[in-house]
Amino acid sequence: MTKRRQLKLGALLHGVGGNPAMWRHSDTQPDASVNFELYKKWVHKAEAGKFDLIFIADGLYINEKSIPHFLNRFEPVTILSALAAASTHIGLVGTLSTSYSEPFTVARQFASLDKISGGRAGWNIVTSPLEGSALNYGGKEHPEHDLRYRIATEYLQVTRGLWDSWEDDAFVRNKETGVFFDPDKLHTLNHKGEFFSVKGPLNIARSKQGHPVIFQAGSSDVGRDYASKEADAVFTGHDRLEDAVEFYRDVKQRAAGFGRSAEEVLIFPGIGPIVGSTQEEAERKYEEVAGLVTIETALNYLGRFFEHHDFSQYPLDEPFPDIGDLGQNSFRSTTDKIKKDAREQNLTLRQVALRSVTPRGNFIGTPEQVADKIQQWFEAGAADGFMLSAAVPNGLEDFVDHVVPILQQRGLFRTEYGSDTLRGNLGLKVPANRYARVGEKV
Ligand SMILES: Cc1cc2nc3c(=O)[nH]c(=O)nc-3n(C[C@H](O)[C@H](O)[C@H](O)COP(=O)(O)O)c2cc1C
Repeated sequence: MTKRRQLKLGALLHGVGGNPAMWRHSDTQPDASVNFELYKKWVHKAEAGKFDLIFIADGLYINEKSIPHFLNRFEPVTILSALAAASTHIGLVGTLSTSYSEPFTVARQFASLDKISGGRAGWNIVTSPLEGSALNYGGKEHPEHDLRYRIATEYLQVTRGLWDSWEDDAFVRNKETGVFFDPDKLHTLNHKGEFFSVKGPLNIARSKQGHPVIFQAGSSDVGRDYASKEADAVFTGHDRLEDAVEFYRDVKQRAAGFGRSAEEVLIFPGIGPIVGSTQEEAERKYEEVAGLVTIETALNYLGRFFEHHDFSQYPLDEPFPDIGDLGQNSFRSTTDKIKKDAREQNLTLRQVALRSVTPRGNFIGTPEQVADKIQQWFEAGAADGFMLSAAVPNGLEDFVDHVVPILQQRGLFRTEYGSDTLRGNLGLKVPANRYARVGEKV
């Protein structure tokens, strides 16, 4: 009997939440974004639920309008390193920007996390949508959208080259002979490109999963190309199943165009499940959170995607205003979608703002209903796995306690980890070291 295809699960750990008002909910710890004990508790919960990974998102610019979680939160690689020591099987994925960092430093950081965790590191490559980021990094101009992806392409070439600096059996460490390493198995990159000049070698060797797993969330045309060509896994977000299926097909097709097989790039739509013992209870949980958001907060939230544009200057109950090209150089695909939905569905500014801050989502109801929806999306060819965020307080706990067992009973999700590396659990190959000779043991 062939084994049933199983889905993958990730959990976005996001402190007080992506909703600007959730910190005020009676069940939210208001210091959650900087509460390490709570992050540890969440990791233990996700690991008890046999999740593939947890994910820490990031950004590089805040102002007084940013949502509470963004104002005061942990730097991803730092907290992931601490969480590595508090877990054994779960993957540890964090965002780091290729527009505001150096490949040598970042290759070291992720290689170190990968070794500390025994092969469980993942890097979500972002190109930094927020123009304000430039103000925190020397004040040079924020690179234009497509240029950021060109930089990201060379950046990853350099990083991967550095990760292969040492072949896996390079360190002999023979006390008797005094040979610490085999110089034939040490490789200097000597990269000189359009954006980077990096000699190498890197001062850390590979982990047992070879390279950290590469995640990406590009949704624009150039972003999809980047993800299809380079990434092991792609984060995405869709309200409608048809759009998710279209995205899935498109990315897999693009991957094939780059000579990759469909299994080499996994697609993870982001979802915010809301689980109740009855449909009414789930709806009530949603309303409790949605009811905390004021229209001012919603307008601020919307504005962030459009370079912190001030939407309070427009009438709330008239059609969404014409704001021209605003957003093209930041969250391009998100802002394109907001504009398109507003136009096609005749939405007012108030409706657009409230929808964007508290999307109700498709994954709301009893545990069976949520499991049904997940199964439907998975089997319709919309997803290889899902990236969960907590749309309501205790969203992760509810999901692990009530939905995971149903998915397991249906044979759709693992009951035990199959591996102790992230690549192993995701079913991804360990990349061969580019310098290792074929047939040689590495
Ligand atoms: C699930 C998910 C997670 C993301 N995480 C981050 C993040 O942590 N930091 C960030 O700056 N952007 C993040 N993004 C935004 C993407 O990096 C990207 O800018 C966005 O999807 C727009 O795509 P584009 O750059 O191709 O236009 C995320 C997007 C998604 C869908």
